[in-house]
Amino acid sequence: MKKADLVIHSAAQLCRVPPHDGGPQRGCQLGDLGVIEDGAVACEAGRVVAVGSTEALRQAWWASTELDASGCVVCPGFVDPHTHAVWAGERADEFVQRVRGATYQEIMASGGGIMSTVRATRSASVAQLVDASRPRLDRMLTHGTTTVEVKSGYGLSVDDELKILDAVHCLDVSHPATLVPTFLGAHAVPEEYEGRAESYVDLVVEEMLPAAAERFPEVSFCDVFCDQGAFTLEQSRRVLERAKALGFGLKIHADEFEPLGGTGLAVELGAMSADHLVCTPDQEIELLGQSDTVAVSLPATPFGLAHHQYTPAQAILEAGGILALASDCNPGTAWNESMAFIVALACRYMHITPAQALVAATLNAAHAVGLGDRVGSLEQGRDADILILDLPDVRHLGYRFGSNPVKHVIKTGEVVVSR
Ligand code: NIG
Ligand code: FE
Repeated sequence: MKKADLVIHSAAQLCRVPPHDGGPQRGCQLGDLGVIEDGAVACEAGRVVAVGSTEALRQAWWASTELDASGCVVCPGFVDPHTHAVWAGERADEFVQRVRGATYQEIMASGGGIMSTVRATRSASVAQLVDASRPRLDRMLTHGTTTVEVKSGYGLSVDDELKILDAVHCLDVSHPATLVPTFLGAHAVPEEYEGRAESYVDLVVEEMLPAAAERFPEVSFCDVFCDQGAFTLEQSRRVLERAKALGFGLKIHADEFEPLGGTGLAVELGAMSADHLVCTPDQEIELLGQSDTVAVSLPATPFGLAHHQYTPAQAILEAGGILALASDCNPGTAWNESMAFIVALACRYMHITPAQALVAATLNAAHAVGLGDRVGSLEQGRDADILILDLPDVRHLGYRFGSNPVKHVIKTGEVVVSR
């Protein structure tokens, strides 16, 4: 018998979420959960060391800690590959304005929106930002998110953008979840640059990006908001080309409101992901489908804005694309901390099955943040980031919504949430 630190056994369904050819599940192959009925998984030193039937696994392994997952689904921890989870303040007033009929872009044009959060974030210290953001990460973890991408983008000055990345770093080293930092200096044109967007882009490419690269070598991605009211295609290209030259992986907010060509740009530059993709033209969906750029859909954003158009997931899958899901957690369009709710939205409005949505929220999401060989799947050798869900089978994820299905969260082999 071999000894493990932890064995989870007797799962009604254990979802391995196997990589395909060592990579994500592409196109119409999406949704292969690799279910083992009456399944078990053994963890040692923070890694998965064995996966199989309870009977077979127990013949070979014993552990000091055992968790009985009878009647439950066991799956990889959720990976949330697109959030703006570090900010100060809140915008409930704008929510009420939108309920009364104002649009997100009207509010943004009148100095609210992102700029409102920028003002609050600029006046917060690193410690205040950490204190404001930690409870959000705690709630995400309680809802099963074990890896979270977090963008800067509410500072919009050299010092304030670095301050946010400092806060992300502090949270990463002190919180059980793994944080993946992304620089988003080109999130909005700040008010002191009104009418001078090109000069602001100069600041981003000449000062902010080099400063971020030097101070935070672990910041692996640069993102840009390419949309009407934010940055043009050419401005986005300038930011991303400079970021690429500095060694950043690339991400883009594209086609959230208007199709400006951001998805095509992402494919051309070999971006890790293109995110939002609500009004993406067919031609760019085809390009995406032939590329390794992950299509990250954020269904809480149209839901949060009470819009009726969602990512055309079927077209992306038919084109062969790599579909992932994320929360977009932010104080404006979508303050949502639950990936299970994202799955519920994706099933209804993007017409994907719970099995497809689960892969999009784990394995494919891991690929969107460059961690596709470490998390998102319960294969031997990967991080032991595991959920025990109080659901009899995977279809109940998506079918039910509004309550938290998580019973236990295991992060690198440690039980960090028990409910
Ligand atoms: O992803 N689109 C740009 N950024 C966010 C919204 C940020 C905000 O409103 O504070 C998004 O939807
Ligand atoms: Fe976003």
